[in-house]
Amino acid sequence: MIDLRSDTVTQPTAAMREAMLAAPLGDDVFGDDPTVNALQERIAQITGKEAALFMPSGTQSNLCALMAHCERGDEYIVGQNAHTYRYEGGGAAVLGSIQPQPLMQNAQGEMALADIASAIKPIDCHFARTRLLALENTWNGHAMSQDYLVQATALARQHGLATHLDGARLFNAAVADAQGGAVMERVRRIVDHFDSVSVCFSKGLGAPVGSALCGSRELIAKALRWRKVLGGGLRQSGVLAAAALHALDHHVDRLADDHALAQRLAQGLQGIEGLHVRSAKTNIVFVEVADGRGPALLEALKVQGVLATGLIGLRFVTHLNVDAAGIDHALDCIGQFMREQTREAAQGLVRSGVY
Ligand SMILES: Cc1ncc(COP(=O)(O)O)c(C=O)c1O
Repeated sequence: MIDLRSDTVTQPTAAMREAMLAAPLGDDVFGDDPTVNALQERIAQITGKEAALFMPSGTQSNLCALMAHCERGDEYIVGQNAHTYRYEGGGAAVLGSIQPQPLMQNAQGEMALADIASAIKPIDCHFARTRLLALENTWNGHAMSQDYLVQATALARQHGLATHLDGARLFNAAVADAQGGAVMERVRRIVDHFDSVSVCFSKGLGAPVGSALCGSRELIAKALRWRKVLGGGLRQSGVLAAAALHALDHHVDRLADDHALAQRLAQGLQGIEGLHVRSAKTNIVFVEVADGRGPALLEALKVQGVLATGLIGLRFVTHLNVDAAGIDHALDCIGQFMREQTREAAQGLVRSGVY
């Protein structure tokens, strides 16, 4: 299978499995797991935050952040299509009694600064208290510009809001950052503006499980309580933290390979009649398929051992377990399907006497 549905589908490498086997373990609810502690220290140091907390998932990490920043009856400003609003089961409202204030985003995932400013509510008993601005980077593969990050977070601070970054694919954003410098310097440049950042190890970094929330000691102490309440207090989770540490050591720079493969795929798709590449940034490619043939294309690909997601717009994600030969095979299958469709459509038209 060439599985391009998501970068979450990766299998741990043999070396990662060895690191997991060799990890010293303890009960992390007692704070006793040396591997979890090492990971938390490492990711806190990478992001330049005082502390970090290992989490079972990105969803739980974001939710703990929202619950640590906001109280019952508070609200957070968030993109209409941001993961923390649209794709996390409404957890902030359901479990945190926190009201989302979703705003429209542009094609890069940015909310207009003027919209953010006018969404911040005055202190008045009629309104929820606006407490937090939540951004996502990368968003649908787009790495946000430094200018936008600086301006949006400065605006939030000016109004007394805290700032959280859903950095599920933070390292993809850093690798794609054109301003240069070592990758870890670029990470710092992105997250320096934020009070908290959630990072996923189980996406492009290729670990099987796990995320981390990074922030001040005070914020992480609150998040620790919410993680326990949400059932995320794990025991010998060093076996998972070891995979994340291995990923930080070995799978960060190679994200550039995933980005190059996404470009290879996008360039091949551009030449196929009936397809329009809507965006191809970092490791995610979105393609529109003419005449509503997206679902049929997905089905045809599945038969040929290629998996993707979507309906009208299809999504292809590159990752650790895909190589150039896999991308070329996917392109061959897509090209073949689209040519057949075009031929059949033309024959239909000829038969119906249209030309
Ligand atoms: C941008 C973003 N944030 C958060 C998450 C949530 O991560 P998890 O699936 O580990 O809960 C995802 C998952 O795909 C994501 O894409």
